[in-house]
Amino acid sequence: MRSGAELVGGLESPYDAQPMAPTRHRISRVALIVGSALLLSACSLIEIEDAKLTTFEPAGPFAERIDGLFWPVFWIAVGVFVLVQGAILVAVFLYRDKEGAKEAKQLHGSPKLEVLWTVIPALILAGVAVPTTAAVFDLTECDPDAIEIQVVGHQWWFEYHYPDADITTANVMVIPAGQEVCAHMTSDDVMHNFWIPALNGKRYLVPGQTTFLRLQSNEPGEFWGHCAEFCGLSHSLMRARVQALAPAEYEQWLEAQQAPATLPVEGTPEYDGYQVFLNKACIQCHTVRFDDETASNIIADEAFNGPDLTHFASRNVFAGAIFPEEGQSREDGLKQWLADPPNEKPGSFMPNLALTEQEIDDLIAWLESNE
Ligand code: CUA
Repeated sequence: MRSGAELVGGLESPYDAQPMAPTRHRISRVALIVGSALLLSACSLIEIEDAKLTTFEPAGPFAERIDGLFWPVFWIAVGVFVLVQGAILVAVFLYRDKEGAKEAKQLHGSPKLEVLWTVIPALILAGVAVPTTAAVFDLTECDPDAIEIQVVGHQWWFEYHYPDADITTANVMVIPAGQEVCAHMTSDDVMHNFWIPALNGKRYLVPGQTTFLRLQSNEPGEFWGHCAEFCGLSHSLMRARVQALAPAEYEQWLEAQQAPATLPVEGTPEYDGYQVFLNKACIQCHTVRFDDETASNIIADEAFNGPDLTHFASRNVFAGAIFPEEGQSREDGLKQWLADPPNEKPGSFMPNLALTEQEIDDLIAWLESNE
């Protein structure tokens, strides 16, 4: 008997619907393809070569701690996914509507099931929360014997100060392998975030506050980092490196960095480059520490806003670690950078000083002599 209004599609009851086999097949085929593609791409991401910021290659105890949490949680999540999706698929295919089938029995909930699927996830989450919380606290509380390195975020580069040795450097943080470093971090302007994925997780740099980050590398090596907080126009160009040296080499490095810069000899390209530095406004932002009082150009701390260039040539990257670009020589990188800094790093506080080619060549000669 036909009641007042017809159901959509001219059916009298939803149970009269015809099985939609072709569509269902198509959907499951698409789901299979999309699923396999996702799985394959996930695998290739993990195995990708030359992924400089991968979190899957921990190189020290703190990053290993995070990795050790990630994998069990990941596999638990995979298990839950397979079970839940499996149950859905079983329900969809085993109990689908068939021609001539009776209407399914209508239930109003099942207290037993509801308790079960509330308690199991709660237990899983509690199981994950305990080691995670412990790790979060452990990873930020430095060992009292750790080597202190102060990190200051600037738009758009990282500055490192070693209080024990009283040296200041930029872009490349040099650490001894096998020893814990405690980064005491703050920012000079906006919020930044110091992230060396091979050595630890991310940690904010907040103006007016000090945050701490434990860093340690098992072996000597070079690790890539990046600012991980949007901090203005050139956030994406605010990179960092950590160079872990064998302890003896680290001591040598400290000693070399403590040495003052030497004054270039008159009549050399280095000397001409130094004159460019003095007369073309570079000196208003950059410091070079000389032994000679008359040459000293150390500017007031509050006026300082560019990297200390005393040992510029000892750093394998510059300008927020964006130069030299992949496959580029240092000289070409310096030429490109000095010719027009705001063009290379939008918003850069280092202006285009309209240097001539000769001035740039001289400046490079002098900078590269500051080892
Ligand atoms: Cu500094 Cu993003």
